[in-house]
Amino acid sequence: MDFSIKFHEKTKHSAESVYGSTWSLDWDNRPFPFKVYPDLVPITLSEDYKIQEKSALDAISTNPEKSDKIRFNKQLLTTFLFFTGGISRVIKHPEHSFYMRTASATGALYPIELYVITQNFSDLENGVYHFSVGDFTLNQIRKGNYFKHLSNNCSESEIDVRSPLTLLYSSYAIRNSWKYRTRSYRHWFWDGGVMMANTIAIASAFNLQSKIITSFNDQALNKLCGLTDKQEAIIALISFNQDDIADLRTDKKNNFITNVPNIKLDSLKLAKKAYNFESIWDIHQKTSFLGREDLQKWNDDVNSCINFIKIKKPNKIIKSFSQIDVLDLEKTILQRGSTNRFKQEPIPKESFLLILKSANSGIPSDFLPNNESTFLDCYINVHDVMDVDSGSYHYDIANNTLSLLKPGNFRNETSQLCLGQQLFGSTNAIIFLLTNLEKIVHHFGDRAYRVAQLEGGIVSGKLYLSSYALKFGARGTTFFDDEVTKFFSPHANKKSVMTAVGIGIPDYKTKAGKKLKPVYTREKITQELINHLT
Ligand SMILES: Cc1cc2nc3c(=O)[nH]c(=O)nc-3n(C[C@H](O)[C@H](O)[C@H](O)COP(=O)(O)O)c2cc1C
Repeated sequence: MDFSIKFHEKTKHSAESVYGSTWSLDWDNRPFPFKVYPDLVPITLSEDYKIQEKSALDAISTNPEKSDKIRFNKQLLTTFLFFTGGISRVIKHPEHSFYMRTASATGALYPIELYVITQNFSDLENGVYHFSVGDFTLNQIRKGNYFKHLSNNCSESEIDVRSPLTLLYSSYAIRNSWKYRTRSYRHWFWDGGVMMANTIAIASAFNLQSKIITSFNDQALNKLCGLTDKQEAIIALISFNQDDIADLRTDKKNNFITNVPNIKLDSLKLAKKAYNFESIWDIHQKTSFLGREDLQKWNDDVNSCINFIKIKKPNKIIKSFSQIDVLDLEKTILQRGSTNRFKQEPIPKESFLLILKSANSGIPSDFLPNNESTFLDCYINVHDVMDVDSGSYHYDIANNTLSLLKPGNFRNETSQLCLGQQLFGSTNAIIFLLTNLEKIVHHFGDRAYRVAQLEGGIVSGKLYLSSYALKFGARGTTFFDDEVTKFFSPHANKKSVMTAVGIGIPDYKTKAGKKLKPVYTREKITQELINHLT
């Protein structure tokens, strides 16, 4: 217990750790951005896919209580995969191109891989698949129906054995630790959470009930996906439920597979040197669940945390702003891309509050007792919002109001808090998401460290989406941990920063991203990776 608190302390940014460091990037060992299985036969995805039209703010801020009856097929799966983690822009560079994806990631390293478990699709065999982003295909990892196995290895009743689809998010550690070293363990959940914000919004646009699942037997699911120990690990799942499945099929009819042998699949290594950060695998091990007892305890702890968790009010405010011009979700995701320069013009208060409200709306998950609760507190520096005095604020999630903590122009302080990055002082506002880590780790145990970081990632993703839905811009940022807490104290006493996002108006016109054709074939991506390693 408390191993995670120690890890958090050790990975804090301070002036000393950042400015006193002599460490530099090993460019020669830069990891390749795509996982490649050279010997698996690629299965093509759909070419024609689209998110059901829905105002992005509605999609981001609502979670359907019941799913519509929808056909699960390759087309729907392709929609989820592309808009969660597909390539929407290519930035050509003389040395190598950057393949920018539909959800943001720290340092554009995109370390999160997606796996898919399907059942009873009309045009895809039951099985476990890997989403190969570079050539936009699926790799079949296992054949057969694994829903019973999945259900057995998650908290009770979280995965309906009749569910047609589950997405699994893994972190391929070296892709991010190459740059961010031990602190990159936090990024597993930031980058994963940002992608999950897209997934749950897409589900909502289709009127599908989704749920983020963080309580699972780590070893069992890593093995199910054929992941290599100390290389890659599952961080969370999203399941999609369909209450209306008329025939409750029996185990026998569905031929559920519960005996899951080890599987050895050859994927190419991504970097020349296989260096590892043992401290990352240590914290991952210490926050792992091993069996049913852990899963049961998690359920009990979630039910009893209602006493200290923050409760929001139902989402009335969103509706009253429906006259504001809002992009639909598909356009929002394609338009999104981290803002590089912010215009020095104010944003309206209504839009600002709408972004905050939408981003802080409920997250369907197995770590919050209900959709209207949260572990997080929003602390904000307002730099330029119409009818709001500049200053530092605490945002009251329940009432969608701001309480002034300290008046003043804090642009310089914001830049300073964000590791001296001037860009963040030039935003209209910056939102820091804090939580009382000790309190939640004492209640739930070390596993809660993962979910606190993950909730930070999800809300950051929602802040990105909500800002772009209203045609503004956004950019995530890192921070000097203790300096942020100090800046917002005494209100923020004892709280730790999980994530931070600056929002504002982009000072340039950006071309929307596109549903690009696959940027590689399997042969080409394999060859490129081999070249990369020589
Ligand atoms: C959680 C998070 C933290 C980030 N931190 C920083 C940062 O400290 N400085 C910065 O310039 N960009 C930061 N970014 C932005 C990414 O580095 C940038 O988005 C990346 O190039 C990916 O581009 P995209 O968002 O256009 O896909 C962050 C993004 C996220 C999601």
